[in-house]
Amino acid sequence: MFAAIFTFALLAAYVAAEIPSYINVCGRKDPNLDQCIVDNVNNLKSKICEGIPELDIPPNDPLILDKLVISDTTNNKLFMRNTKISGLCNFVINSFHSDIDKLHFDVKISFGLLQLNSTYDFDVRIVVPIAQKGLVYITTNNVEADVGIDMKVTTKGGKRYMYMSQIKINLDIKEYDAKYDLNEREFGQLNQIINNFIGNNQDEIIKSIKPAIEEVVSKRILLVSNDIVKHFTYEELFPDRT
Ligand SMILES: *[C@@H]1O[C@H](CO)[C@@H](O)[C@H](O)[C@H]1NC(C)=O
Repeated sequence: MFAAIFTFALLAAYVAAEIPSYINVCGRKDPNLDQCIVDNVNNLKSKICEGIPELDIPPNDPLILDKLVISDTTNNKLFMRNTKISGLCNFVINSFHSDIDKLHFDVKISFGLLQLNSTYDFDVRIVVPIAQKGLVYITTNNVEADVGIDMKVTTKGGKRYMYMSQIKINLDIKEYDAKYDLNEREFGQLNQIINNFIGNNQDEIIKSIKPAIEEVVSKRILLVSNDIVKHFTYEELFPDRT
């Protein structure tokens, strides 16, 4: 959700009259524009996490991801379903850089404790087909994210609008703790699936699952961010004044 919060805070750099009072306006020519945006993000994060109905922002803590695909081939299907992530609003901005002419933004963020509750849904073939489904409770600490955001301007019905065209997220997940609700036999079978198809140690497992998380989270942030910015025309965002 951090990037949605950034998008929202960016708007504050341009919108003057139309914006809600809880946003502090940053001047486009503010010599400390980056710091002003960072301050806005910090002020806004709890509000975005709780949701802002008048701007179509639903509550975002926990964040719910319907389906993460680890593998999807004819014989081997490994999915994580209904993943609930809490703690995403508890982040610190380590660095922020904006290129206002190119509408490009680079952000480095670190999170505190993240909690993921999910249902794994594995259907694979190891000699014979094996299917397993169950709950997993994952916690991880000190995840870091490098985020690159590109915004663009488009014309619709004679009016110009700004939108987020691309977001790239690179997650640094260091280690995690996973708990399952299984007896010994089931746990042995699950471990066999994980070792065969996902990885033999935490580093390998993180490497297998990371792209799916990055993809789904990026798509979600694009959607949420563009739902926010659609409320404002380019002329509102970039008033013709100094
Ligand atoms: C995950 O499950 C635990 C244990 O049932 C619960 O305390 C926690 O609130 C859940 N977190 C999320 C994000 O659903």
